[in-house]
Amino acid sequence: MKICCLGAGYVGGPTMAMIAHKCADITVTVCDINESRIAAWNSDKLPVYEPGLDEVVQGARGKNLFFSTDTAKGIKEADIIFVSVGTPTKTYGANAGKAADLKFIELCARSIAENAESSKIVVEKSTIPVRTAESLKTVLAANSKPGLEFNVLSNPEFLAEGTAIEDLNDPDRVLIGGEETEGGQKAVEALVSVYARWIPRDRILTTNLWSSELSKLVANAFLAQRISSINSISALCEATGANVDEVAFAIGKDSRIGPKFLKSSVGYGGSCFQKDLLNLVYLCGHFGLPEVADYWQQVVSMNEWQRNRFTAKIIESLFNTVNGKKITMFGFAFKKDTNDTRESAAIYIGRSLLEEEAKLAIHDPEVEAEQIFKDLEVPATEEDGSPSKSVTLYKDPYAATEKSHGLAILTEWDSFKELDYQRIYDNMMKPAFIFDGRNILDHAKLREIGFKVYSIGR
Ligand code: NAD
Ligand code: UGA
Repeated sequence: MKICCLGAGYVGGPTMAMIAHKCADITVTVCDINESRIAAWNSDKLPVYEPGLDEVVQGARGKNLFFSTDTAKGIKEADIIFVSVGTPTKTYGANAGKAADLKFIELCARSIAENAESSKIVVEKSTIPVRTAESLKTVLAANSKPGLEFNVLSNPEFLAEGTAIEDLNDPDRVLIGGEETEGGQKAVEALVSVYARWIPRDRILTTNLWSSELSKLVANAFLAQRISSINSISALCEATGANVDEVAFAIGKDSRIGPKFLKSSVGYGGSCFQKDLLNLVYLCGHFGLPEVADYWQQVVSMNEWQRNRFTAKIIESLFNTVNGKKITMFGFAFKKDTNDTRESAAIYIGRSLLEEEAKLAIHDPEVEAEQIFKDLEVPATEEDGSPSKSVTLYKDPYAATEKSHGLAILTEWDSFKELDYQRIYDNMMKPAFIFDGRNILDHAKLREIGFKVYSIGR
């Protein structure tokens, strides 16, 4: 069997590497139109930072795992084609800021139709609006050579960044949606047989196409909703003297609620929660359900409010002005163990502080400097070629806090817990403030050292 995947991103790369790792008899080719991304997948420094990914890629690359820019060849040779391209929120035209932009998906369908010389199973791996398979089938049928059959399956991905390899190796479930026709069911069985090599059969769920497509959006909406729920309670905790981590622990002990995804924070980030929620809101509106749309919109609004509340707290604590003050940010990635910054709370908080004319000192163990400047929309150099005066990046966390007025913890990297905070305190301006946006530090100890500490929900 030959598999091709269009899109070598955070999902396509690790997912296909795992299939190749588990199925030595299947040849897997991951194709992307981005040459530098493919070059990186073929190099020693992979474009995605994920614990355990290097080993999985190195074990299979060049044997049954290939990364290539030749999408036409990949499509021609494959029996199963995964589509794992981006589905961002639309930024232009009708429904900008709401609906998903499906241009990359459609271009893949057209490319498959143009290049296929035999029948194919086409798998939606990207997260897409419910009923996208219908459009895919229409584009494939209208543009392909006569006599070819395309069976479209939905196989959404549930991995989380930072734990992608664990999630792929031992997923809670794999979901495969297909048409109830004979061809559709055969295609479902073909894909089931791939995953069944390492995943117990009872964890491979099969449904109709629309249930599978919708389940992905709903899973992300429920996860994000838990974070917005606990973040809303964090504000009430601050007002009442309750401690949000104690509340989360207490309610999480109820087996009907469960302990996961109840960590209050500066707000969720990541490429998907916001876009998938906005997409769900859009779909509800589109199908004439404005009350349902409003319900889910509130999850997004609460997240924005939580980020803004945190920024306001920094400014207010620093005597209502950060103008010209050095503010240190520990962490820029949207969560620990990834170099991904998409929709990271740090971006929004950083931009707001820059608007207030603060000088940012940023330390993140994995995110590239170029990415941070791009996200903050600040040139890395001034017009005269000297380094940026408003944003400075530091490899050394101690240098980052020198003469700083405030330190904000924005990502929960483990390394931040192990630093010498006495040394940091000694170097900072006084009073020295810490804003722990992840509640990961020992606040009693920090107060003993002399810090003024603001945490979330305490
Ligand atoms: P990404 O931006 O990292 O990767 C997408 C890749 O597709 C890019 O490298 C791009 O160059 C490539 N591409 C675009 N058009 C192409 C074409 N015609 N042919 C070949 N390659 C093409 O995106 P991602 O994070 O991997 O997400 C992909 C999809 O998976 C999205 O729909 C997302 O919602 C979903 N998803 C993401 C995650 C995650 O953790 N990032 C988890 C589950 C699901
Ligand atoms: C999320 C889902 O967990 C995956 O199942 C899904 O496949 C993926 O989105 C997707 O569709 O892209 P991911 O965004 O990679 O995965 O990471 P999460 O662990 O879900 O974290 C998302 C954000 O929520 C992070 O900013 C994290 O710090 C924050 N978070 C998470 C909290 O603030 N509190 C929590 O309790 C959990």
